[in-house]
Amino acid sequence: MQTVQHYITSNKQRYLDELIELLRIPSISADEQYKQDVQHTAEAVVEHLKKAGLDVAEVMPTAGFPIVFGQKIVDANLPTVLVYAHYDVQPPDPLELWESGPFEPIIKKTTIHPDGAIFARGACDDKGQLFMHIKAVEAMINQGSLPCNVKFIIEGEEEVGSKNLHTFVSANRERLACDVVLVSDTSIIANDTPSLTVSLRGLSYMEVFVTGPNRDLHSGVYGGAVANPATVLCEIIAKLHDENRHITIPAFYDDVIELTTEQREKLNEAPYNEENYKTDLGVQALLGEKNYTTLERVGIRPTLEVNGIKGGYIGEGAKTVLPSKASAKISMRLVPNQDPDKIAELFTKHIQSLAPASVTVEAHKHSTGLYSRTPVDSIEYKAAEKALQKTFDKEVIPAYEGGSIPIGPMFNAELGVNTVFMGFGLSSDALHSPNEHYGLFNFYKGIETIPYFYQYYAEMK
Ligand code: BES
Ligand code: MN
Ligand code: MN
Repeated sequence: MQTVQHYITSNKQRYLDELIELLRIPSISADEQYKQDVQHTAEAVVEHLKKAGLDVAEVMPTAGFPIVFGQKIVDANLPTVLVYAHYDVQPPDPLELWESGPFEPIIKKTTIHPDGAIFARGACDDKGQLFMHIKAVEAMINQGSLPCNVKFIIEGEEEVGSKNLHTFVSANRERLACDVVLVSDTSIIANDTPSLTVSLRGLSYMEVFVTGPNRDLHSGVYGGAVANPATVLCEIIAKLHDENRHITIPAFYDDVIELTTEQREKLNEAPYNEENYKTDLGVQALLGEKNYTTLERVGIRPTLEVNGIKGGYIGEGAKTVLPSKASAKISMRLVPNQDPDKIAELFTKHIQSLAPASVTVEAHKHSTGLYSRTPVDSIEYKAAEKALQKTFDKEVIPAYEGGSIPIGPMFNAELGVNTVFMGFGLSSDALHSPNEHYGLFNFYKGIETIPYFYQYYAEMK
């Protein structure tokens, strides 16, 4: 292990330089215009896997963006770790809020990252975290001390709902056979507070379309006589929560498994400072579901949020117009035991019941994903916990995270294995926002920790 850690320390600068190159490619899966770049990123990742010393590294086509597969089998008797990650990134918009180009990575110091952080779209989510795995494996292979077999599955459609992943995994079960899935695409609580993600929320992502008159109308000539789809849309949205911020969709909470009082107490032991939280976000007060703490509101409670809203004239200056259409993108985060497709149906039925006769209301389902929970008594959880304890020299806190990585239950169903979410980002790293960044401390800490996971996992297995 010492030689592995020594190799990592001696190659620090090169590791960073290589990551910077990978971050330059705009692999935006949501935008057709970047199709070529997404493809090129897959090829670049294959090159990195080969350079790391894997025996197999290839771009495998799907109906959408390709999946990168890699493997190194040391010995058929050793356990096999399957690393999952994604090489696609979110659109960088709004561009004007970036202090430097989203695909021109630069290193800057911040209060939270005094050693510097790398600023670029995908720095933390997920290219920086993906790269930690490639580099940790490179170090272990180079030093002839890879304690497990390793496989990589790296997709290019995670940020648009992993549409082709399930089919790919079903069709390649044997190739992907493994003992555990390891993922770094989540956060730790703070750089001095290591945590392991034990829970992620599910997702139902909907879009609502409200249509009124057959064309945009002069708001003076017709205003007051016909329904305004933008107004109706706002009325519908306003009815989706009650005064306690409870979601009003009938049967929405029916399948939710509540935590026991004891589990809630344990969850609330995680460090959380309300004043810092508010200051970080620049808000005077927080708002959420009554009778739940902030950690519970983002960790174990389902939510409904407007993610985007469109309708009428939004250009410069004034234009007196009554829009013919209005729409909103709405995401619902889900918890055990909610079924995302069932929730999508309940949502659609409910918003249609709220529609006045003067407009039509339609709903479209964009993507759905399951919640996930990691059993803390599993070998893989314990190996990850021990690895983090080793490199941080601190107690590891089980964390309930609000984001979604729906692949856990899918791997469990297809490959019969658990997934460990051992991420190294921070919530404040501006994922999906302008000026996304990833701390150099976090990048290197990840590379340092991963080999311990392999070692402890091989020992415990
Ligand atoms: N890495 C994130 C999820 C995440 C971020 C989990 C931080 C925990 C902490 C992932 O890339 C992501 O953004 N997922 C999407 C869902 C997906 C189906 C589009 C999300 O959570 O919005
Ligand atoms: Mn991610
Ligand atoms: Mn993401």
